[in-house]
Parts: sequence; C-alpha cells; structure tokens
Amino acid sequence: MTLWGWIFIIVGWSSIIGLSVYLFRRVLLSKTQKVLVEPAEGGRAQWGSRIGLILAMAGNAIGLGNFLRFPVKAAANGGGAFMIPYFCALIFLGIPLMWVEWTVGRYGGAHHHGTTPGMFSLLWKNPKAKYLGALGIALPFIIVVYYNFIESWTLGFAWFSATGKYFGNTNQEAMNQFLRGFQGAEVNQFFTSVLPIIIFLGITLLVNYFFLSRGISKGIEVLAKFGMPILFVFAIVLVIRVLTLGTPDPGIPDQNVWKGLAYIWNPDFSRLTHAEVWLVAAGQIFFTLSLGQGIICTYASYLREKNDITLNGITTSATNEFAEVVLGGTIAIPLAVAFFGIPGTQAIAKEGAFNLGFVSLPVIFQKIPFGQLFGSLWFLLLFIAGITSSVAMTSPAIAFLEDEFKWKRSKAVNLVFAIIAISTIAVVIFFKFGFLDELDYWAGTFGIVVFAAIEIVLFSWVFGLKKGWHEMHKGADLQVPQFFRFVIKYITPVYLLVMLGVWTYQEAVPKLLMKDVAAANHPYLWGARGLMVTLILITLYMVRVAWKTKVKK
Ligand code: ALA
Repeated sequence: MTLWGWIFIIVGWSSIIGLSVYLFRRVLLSKTQKVLVEPAEGGRAQWGSRIGLILAMAGNAIGLGNFLRFPVKAAANGGGAFMIPYFCALIFLGIPLMWVEWTVGRYGGAHHHGTTPGMFSLLWKNPKAKYLGALGIALPFIIVVYYNFIESWTLGFAWFSATGKYFGNTNQEAMNQFLRGFQGAEVNQFFTSVLPIIIFLGITLLVNYFFLSRGISKGIEVLAKFGMPILFVFAIVLVIRVLTLGTPDPGIPDQNVWKGLAYIWNPDFSRLTHAEVWLVAAGQIFFTLSLGQGIICTYASYLREKNDITLNGITTSATNEFAEVVLGGTIAIPLAVAFFGIPGTQAIAKEGAFNLGFVSLPVIFQKIPFGQLFGSLWFLLLFIAGITSSVAMTSPAIAFLEDEFKWKRSKAVNLVFAIIAISTIAVVIFFKFGFLDELDYWAGTFGIVVFAAIEIVLFSWVFGLKKGWHEMHKGADLQVPQFFRFVIKYITPVYLLVMLGVWTYQEAVPKLLMKDVAAANHPYLWGARGLMVTLILITLYMVRVAWKTKVKK
C-alpha cells in the first residue's frame, strides 16, 4: 500500500466509523425513542419504534449495491482516487437528497399521500405534477422486477454453498457454466432445466410477499430488526476471515489481502480528469442510498409531523456508508486479489459485479477451510441485503393503491405481486439476451437520476427552499448546517443537471441506439423497453383514474 493509500483508507474509514458511532449514540440518547406521538391520520400505517425505522431505512439502502457494485466500481475507477468523487457526490448529492426525500415523504404522509404523485402535487399545485410523480412508483417497480431475480440467485447460491453442490468446480470457467446453467441462460451438465431457478425465485417472491403483506410495523420493521443485525454480524465475520487470510499461497507472496486493500485504496489521481469517473461515483451514491426512486419518500410517509427526520436521515446515510465503504470494500475484492492477483481481479472486475460475487468467490470458498460455511454466510448476507431493499422497492406501488384507491393492503399486495411475477418471468426467459441489463440501465441508472433532478427542482425552486427548510426542521433533533441550504438550492440541482446533460450526451444516446449490441439481440432489448414503457403507461393511467375519482367525490 502506498502512503496515499494508507491516508485514504485511514481518513475514509475513521470518518465513516466515527460519524456512524456518533450519530447512533445521539439517536439512542435522544428522548424521543418512540416514533409514534399520536395516532396515524386517515388510518395510515406507521412505524413502531425509532430504531426500527432507522433499521428499515438502512435496510432499504443497504443492498447488493454495497457488497457487489461498490467494490467493483471503486476498483475499476481509480481506487482511492474514486473516493474523491464518491465523497463529493455523497456530500453534495446523497446527504442533501436523503434529507429532501425524508421531508417530502413525511409532508406527503401528513396529507394522506404515501407516494410521489400525491407528494409532487403538494409541492407544485399544477395538474401535471402528479404525472411527474408517477415515475416514483414505476421506476422502483421496474427495478424490483429484476432485483428479485438477482436476489433469488443469492438464495440459490446460499443453498448450493451449504449443500456443497458447486464444490468440485474449482476453476472460473466451470463456475461460470454453473452460474449460467442456474440462471437459465444455458442448458448444461449442471442444470438441465429452469426448474431450480423458478423454485428459488418462487421462494424469494413468497418471502417478499410474506413481509409486505404483514404491513409496515409488523412486516417491514420486523424484517429489518432481525435482518440488519444478522447482516452486520455476517459481514464482520467475513471481514475478519478475509483480513486474517494473509498470503494464502506463500509461494506467491505478491498475492495477499493487503495488496487487495491497496488495489481498492491506492489512488490513481490521473483518473480524476475523466468525466466518466465522476458519473460512476454519483451513480453509485444514488443506487446505494436508494435515492431517486421514491422509496425513501414512501417509507418516510409513515412518520408523523413531530418525528425527527434530520438526525434519522443522516444516521441512515452513515449506516449505509459504513456497510459499503468499510465492510463492502473489505470482502470481495481483497479476497479475489489474494487468490487471483491484481491482473486476475482486474479481468474479473471487468466482467462485472455478478462475475465477482457468483463465480470468483465460490471458487475461493472451495480453497479455504470451512468454505461451505463462509460461502453460505456470504450469500445469505447478500440475500438479507437484497430482501430489505426489495420490500422497499415494492412498497410505493402498494402504498399507492392503498392511499389513492383506498384498497385494503392484502388486495393491493396481491395485485402488485401478480404483475411482478409475470414481469419477472419475462426477465428470466430473456435474461441471456441482455434484458436485465437494459432494464437496469434505463430504470436503475439513468431513470433514477432523472427522477432525482425533477424532485430537487420541485423542492428547492417550486415549493421553495424557505418552506422546505422549515418543514425539514419540524421536530428535528439536529439542526442541519446552514451550508446545506446553499447546497440544496444551488449545488445539488446544478450538479444533477450537468451530470444528466453529460451523461445523456456521452452514454445515453449511443445506448439508445444500441451501438454496442449485437443485432440479433435488438428485438429482446426492444422487448425490455416495451415492458418499461408499458409499466410507466399503466402507472400514468392509474394516477389519472385516481385523481378523476377524487374530483368526482
Ligand atoms: N440501495 C439498494 C442497493 O444498494 C438498492 O442495492
């Protein structure tokens, strides 16, 4: 590790750990431990406790992005130097938007709206506002359709680790075949039918269904209260295992865990002049904090006006960063470097996050003592991280039906899961043609930035920052530094709009024209786009019907 690498790791880790400990202490010492201060208005559900709320919000944010996406992006984009645009994006985009989304959400909830069509109509008294807000239901819905599929791989691999099913396939090529066979992308000696993936997908959907149908405090909150501590324990056990591995093969002293940490943290300052690195860092902040998807807003809508959002909001962000930078950065990549060296890991990281998590790590689990146990811990950790996020992404659609159509939760959950199941089947069938990646690009990468840009402009400029700031500080346990007034009003919107402009020009246009895709796959990608457009149109239509019905009443 170079001196700069040490400086980055020490400053990065200590600031995140210090902030998390300080904020959690403040939350625990605060007088208001109960979220509830009065019965919910309009019969809306509510969180049971403050700690449950924070864990649910942290569970919402901590997902596959922390343990798979972050290390790959950091390693591929300048290591320690990546942390400079990453922390800039955290301070100027992530944290301010987190506060804004909590504020918009609580404000909407006070007016019986749990989703952004209603919330945006409150921010902007214009009939078009509700249609802009429809994206805050459609985007997380599109994302969850493929997210559940990935979640089912983690469950499947947890089972295969525990039973040792993939043991014996000790090289990457064999493991890759195993993965592709399981995903249903090819028929091979490991899997001759799609039945196993359908079974694990079915179980994943059922577990999601179970917690969502139990409601906010009895379902989502209970899941987070058990899931989050387990997740942290598993992650810490894995981190200790990785850090104590040292040099697995004394014959190759260059391949060790410290080189792996150095690979993530040694800065390559020359990368800072590439616009792409700044975009990737900002994209990662959005994805990991679950911003720009309307899901933080929906969770915050179950708060009352007197409940704090400033301290809770920053504590959620700090907890997510702890899980990402400290824990997520110390498992997959250092492990890969210790066994495959830097060039090997570079090649793996280029193939993407899934290859690292589902191909390379299983190969390594076969080489270490108690590999079945550590493999199971790793994939269960991913499953818990995934499910606490997927219940959040499914929540806006359910809340919309409950709040705007006055449906019973059970009826809303049934309809939403029926549509999810049908759409996910399309993702499974067409996965091998790049269907999932297409959804992830437009909804999970580009769409969320567009939505965040709309949201911040409405909040800071249309609703007005003065009113917004006042709203944010109702019941606040923490006074947000005045500096963030300036950030929320000017820096966040400009940062977002510039980013969106550069991104559209550099990436989205070639992507739209399918420049790098084999012609044979074009029809399937059009299919993915058709699915997205259909889901957005259905949402817009439902919003229209809901508001028309209200006017008649
Ligand atoms: N925030 C969630 C994740 O990191 C979506 O996976």
